[in-house]
Amino acid sequence: MNVLVTGGAGLIGTHLCEKLLDEGHRVFCVDNFSSGQKANIVVLSNNSQFTLIEHDICIPLTVDEKIDQIYNLASPASPLDFTTLSLEILHANSLGLENMLNLAKEHSARIVHASTSEVYGDPLEHPQKETYFGNVNSYGPRSCYDESKRYGEALIYSYRKRYTLDTGIVRIFNTYGPYMRPDDGRVISTFVVQALKGDDLTVMGTGDQTRSFCFVSDMVSGLQSMMESTEEGPINLGNPDEYAIVDFAEKVIAFTGTESKINYIPLTKDDPEKRRPDISLAKEKLGFNPQVALKEGISKTVDYFKGII
Ligand SMILES: NC(=O)c1ccc[n+]([C@@H]2O[C@H](COP(=O)([O-])OP(=O)(O)OC[C@H]3O[C@@H](n4cnc5c(N)ncnc54)[C@H](O)[C@@H]3O)[C@@H](O)[C@H]2O)c1
Repeated sequence: MNVLVTGGAGLIGTHLCEKLLDEGHRVFCVDNFSSGQKANIVVLSNNSQFTLIEHDICIPLTVDEKIDQIYNLASPASPLDFTTLSLEILHANSLGLENMLNLAKEHSARIVHASTSEVYGDPLEHPQKETYFGNVNSYGPRSCYDESKRYGEALIYSYRKRYTLDTGIVRIFNTYGPYMRPDDGRVISTFVVQALKGDDLTVMGTGDQTRSFCFVSDMVSGLQSMMESTEEGPINLGNPDEYAIVDFAEKVIAFTGTESKINYIPLTKDDPEKRRPDISLAKEKLGFNPQVALKEGISKTVDYFKGII
């Protein structure tokens, strides 16, 4: 099949492109490298089935060859990006998504869009089910991301109804693994890089806030199952194993054997207190069941960062 992956040079996109190529598909990777790394796709570029289209999805895109499937992953996604790339995030998840919906329409392709657990904001329901409408601040440092992803879901709903488009929405929860940027400000990359450098690990607030971490290979399996299904979603994808951030920092310290200590810094505004996906729907509809335990995932991530920092 001819598969187009936007954001194909990012964390999830690179693993997805690799897997699709391994399965024998032709892959078109669309990326403008705003938050992805060229280095991620160097090896893939040697594969004759891989085509890089360096392009901003906010500009309409024409592809001459027939595209069968589109994964729309293009959007900066890390907390640091919320400050430095806020307008780019708003545009990618509105204008950019609309361009990709039009491309899907033109090619009669199924399109699966990466929405996010951030549509639940600082959730008052725990764990979060797809039926929960969320608790989101529309005017604050995280709103560029949260609200544009919410708008994206509404846009897909309208396109699907008006044009009978074949669409799917997944709400992705914290995902990690090799190909993350060492300086992207996400919790796992930050802790692992600090530990490997022997710096203190910066924990925000008391560290009692929780997150659930999904290894990237499990996320890619979930995305592919969504693409192969006829489900419209939204469906949560993530790993429900939940950790307090401070406990997680201790684990990274123990795991890497570093002398680093924990340095507590003020919590950022609107940081969600709790985060854990209810994945019953993904299990039922997609057979989704994350396989990679935290220890194994962290070990692979540590090896990756040892190689690049
Ligand atoms: N990783 C997570 O924990 C997580 C959680 C929830 C949702 N998501 C969503 O999954 C998708 C992929 O996330 P990721 O973690 O791989 O992020 P990432 O930043 O590593 O990858 C995003 C990629 O999109 C590219 N991109 C950004 N704007 C673009 C544009 N306008 N045109 C073309 N390319 C553009 C970037 O250069 C980058 O390669 C994003 O849509 C993100 O919002 C990720």
